[in-house]
Amino acid sequence: MKDFAGKVAFITGGASGAGLGYAQIFSEAGMKVVIADYRQDHLDEAMAYFKEKNAPVHAIKLDVTDRAAFAAAADECEKVYGVPDLLILNAGVNVFGPAEASTYDDFDWVGGVVYGGTVNGLVTFVPRMIKAGPGRHIAATVSWGAFGAGSSTAPYSAAKAAQLNLMESYWIALKSYGIGVSAITPANIRSNIWQAATVGRPKEFNNTGYNVSDDTQNLLASIHAHGMDPRVLADWLKKGIENDLFLIVPYEHGPRMVEMALERFKYYASVEGMKEWEAKQAAGQTEEEFAMHCEREGMDLKSAMEMRNKAPAAGSFKDVGFGKARGDLDWVDKSKKFDK
Ligand SMILES: NC(=O)c1ccc[n+]([C@@H]2O[C@H](COP(=O)([O-])OP(=O)(O)OC[C@H]3O[C@@H](n4cnc5c(N)ncnc54)[C@H](O)[C@@H]3O)[C@@H](O)[C@H]2O)c1
Repeated sequence: MKDFAGKVAFITGGASGAGLGYAQIFSEAGMKVVIADYRQDHLDEAMAYFKEKNAPVHAIKLDVTDRAAFAAAADECEKVYGVPDLLILNAGVNVFGPAEASTYDDFDWVGGVVYGGTVNGLVTFVPRMIKAGPGRHIAATVSWGAFGAGSSTAPYSAAKAAQLNLMESYWIALKSYGIGVSAITPANIRSNIWQAATVGRPKEFNNTGYNVSDDTQNLLASIHAHGMDPRVLADWLKKGIENDLFLIVPYEHGPRMVEMALERFKYYASVEGMKEWEAKQAAGQTEEEFAMHCEREGMDLKSAMEMRNKAPAAGSFKDVGFGKARGDLDWVDKSKKFDK
């Protein structure tokens, strides 16, 4: 898709963070935009912004895990603006802690929104988009987390890996219908995702196995404060769609990052490889790996280098118990530290 003016976009989680950045950039490109979001306060704030711009943007309160509501939202979109030319499946949530502390609620909530919400979006919209004709595009906000399994990110990275694989299947399947598919895989974005673990988590999924406290929330907020500007991310997505790219890694060194992240499987697959892998782990991060990490996290390389060998500052991961288990889980090794 190269021309956006006059066309229709439907964006889940479109009222905050990455989704709001997409809504702004595609609205500025002349699209009519539907933002569908779980949080009314985010919708109200976003709509105040678009009303001031006099932009054609329509808000729908939607929980992407609710299939009947998704179908109703698609009907509403068709009635208000038409079948989407661009569908962006972006809604997502996360929470972090040791895999062995995870509860069913941790998996069901994160997996239900990230993977389940993407499934629901595809099943709801793909038949409608095929029938409406070619020249359309579907994108999903995946995550850098899809490329790696962290010991403290199991529900999120597993759901993101599944989401990426799912989008690839649809990319292959929808080519012959003239519908493009993209997956964008950012690392740190400036957003409100850290609020998901508290205000954004429905009561029926509130049994977490992780340590979620004011301290861990404040630390997460400070990490996301230096993430990528959502409008910059949206520019990457727009360019990727214009060039019909499937995988959009929104960094200058994106292709090399992917190569490095996936290389581990080659080592895992043989006895010799495992020995080499363990030696690599013992040697620690290479300069190139560190530089790529800084690029993804939005950190200035020179100051990050200076910080690297210093003792952790107060408010660091270890200090506030970020990525740790809930205190009463007596099978979890409390000395383990967050490692992703
Ligand atoms: N923030 C990051 O560092 C980061 C990095 C990589 C990928 N992502 C992904 O980006 C996407 C957007 O997240 P963000 O960082 O902009 O967070 P955000 O919280 O600022 O925005 C996400 C929006 O999705 C909405 N949402 C949550 N659950 C929903 C549901 N069940 N149904 C409908 N809407 C729901 C929230 O209300 C929120 O407005 C997510 O898929 C996230 O996993 C974020």
